[in-house]
Amino acid sequence: MTLITDTVNRSADTDAPLLTTLAERWSPRGYDATAVIDEATLTTVLEAARWAPSAANIQPARFIVTRRGTDSFAKIHDQLAGFNKMWADSASVLIANVADATMKPEQDNPWASYDLGQAVAHLSVQAQHEGLHTHQMGGFDAAAIAEAFGLSDKQTVVSVTALGTLADVSSMSAEILERESTPRTRKPLDELLLAND
Ligand SMILES: Cc1cc2nc3c(=O)[nH]c(=O)nc-3n(C[C@H](O)[C@H](O)[C@H](O)COP(=O)(O)O)c2cc1C
Repeated sequence: MTLITDTVNRSADTDAPLLTTLAERWSPRGYDATAVIDEATLTTVLEAARWAPSAANIQPARFIVTRRGTDSFAKIHDQLAGFNKMWADSASVLIANVADATMKPEQDNPWASYDLGQAVAHLSVQAQHEGLHTHQMGGFDAAAIAEAFGLSDKQTVVSVTALGTLADVSSMSAEILERESTPRTRKPLDELLLAND
């Protein structure tokens, strides 16, 4: 089996040393369509999300976890947009990441999306540590997924995460292969620092 990471360096070219897991996390699109994630590992990955910090420990992150081959997986996959639909069907798991804004009757939680993103980040890093890969998506019909799973009007599907293991390079289309080989880049750190006194 030849993986893309055997032939192309996907690690971040960092200007300062990072934890290896952080440097090596990237967002592949070529997933092994036969791979099944064992349940203990999937629980570990979700546990990382559970232990993410959140404003006032309200814990607004909710997850719709679906395994490939189930009706629930199809309900999410059906609502993915364009190219996402093409590649994400090979993921072992699709997770709809939901922010629950419930706080007080008269006030929504202004940090719900922030906290959800942080929980998903923790999940992604733990997945990388477990030898899995994640690819987050914003291209999907959020209202259709919310309706399919009967979410309340306080619950918003903010993103979808594909989780799986890398495909053999020989099974990947030319388009996927090209995208998987595109260098990973970032803005210079200076551009991010509005002040650094
Ligand atoms: C909120 C969010 C939405 C994204 N939406 C999509 C998407 O719809 N389709 C896609 O292929 N990648 C999507 N991505 C992946 C980003 O393009 C990717 O993380 C970015 O290019 C950096 O690449 P890296 O994760 O490999 O470092 C999304 C990422 C995030 C965090």
